[in-house]
Amino acid sequence: MQKPNNRLANQTCIVTGANSGIGEAVATAIGRDGANVVINYVSHPEIAEEIAHKISIDNLCGDAIAIKCDVSKESEVIALFKQTINHFGTVDICVPNAGLQRDAALHEMELKDWQLVLDVNLTGQFLCAREAIREFLHRGMRPEVSRSLGKIIQMSSVHQLIPWAGHANYAASKGAINMLMQSICQEYASYKIRCNSIAPGAIQTPINKNVWGNPEALNDLNKLIPYKRIGVPEDIGSTAVWLASDESEYINGTTIFVDGGMTCYPGFTTNG
Ligand code: BGC
Repeated sequence: MQKPNNRLANQTCIVTGANSGIGEAVATAIGRDGANVVINYVSHPEIAEEIAHKISIDNLCGDAIAIKCDVSKESEVIALFKQTINHFGTVDICVPNAGLQRDAALHEMELKDWQLVLDVNLTGQFLCAREAIREFLHRGMRPEVSRSLGKIIQMSSVHQLIPWAGHANYAASKGAINMLMQSICQEYASYKIRCNSIAPGAIQTPINKNVWGNPEALNDLNKLIPYKRIGVPEDIGSTAVWLASDESEYINGTTIFVDGGMTCYPGFTTNG
């Protein structure tokens, strides 16, 4: 593994949904760049504890703890921030990443599956962003660690742009993330709060195992990726670290697509 740069030393970051896939890679990368990290989870505490343990025993990393919280519940998100602030003193970086899919054809989609996806993917990000902003404003600048008051990195998807048949609830939640992110940027940029999104393409995680776990489906998926490989969680981790650091200080209100070119409509390469 590459040597870390310590760009986030003495900062604290909450990553939601950090006990698997993209969240785990983001938390690990951010920890390896020197930040303290909160590994948020909703199930499998033993996995979250293990990830936190691995980060905290690595002497190149910051410290890490695991905290349980269902991001769709207001009181739990408030408690997550309270516990983090009690433990680490403040929050400098927030990565609302927790998300899920409940796929169905629209005419068969049950209201509970629509609602759950919106509750976790969208309301969860609103609640985390709100608590982060409250803490940033309350705490004030820490010029010794960052030129920004705080950084929010929302986890979006290529499906904030690409419509997705059979996944209307998920695509709607990600489309809304873009407007949430840009509105936060517009509202709080003058306070020196930066809010951006990362929009991963197909990244090999448990959420899409049904695709990469099946050679035929993986072959079809590769047709959608000009770069001709499925992404790995570390592709998102390295982007998140950079977005959280002062190296990207002037980047605000933007979505960075990390998708091997998926949003360049490869179907048009030989057609149209
Ligand atoms: C979804 C994955 C999918 C990818 C590309 C992501 O946002 O969660 O299941 O493979 O988009 O379609």
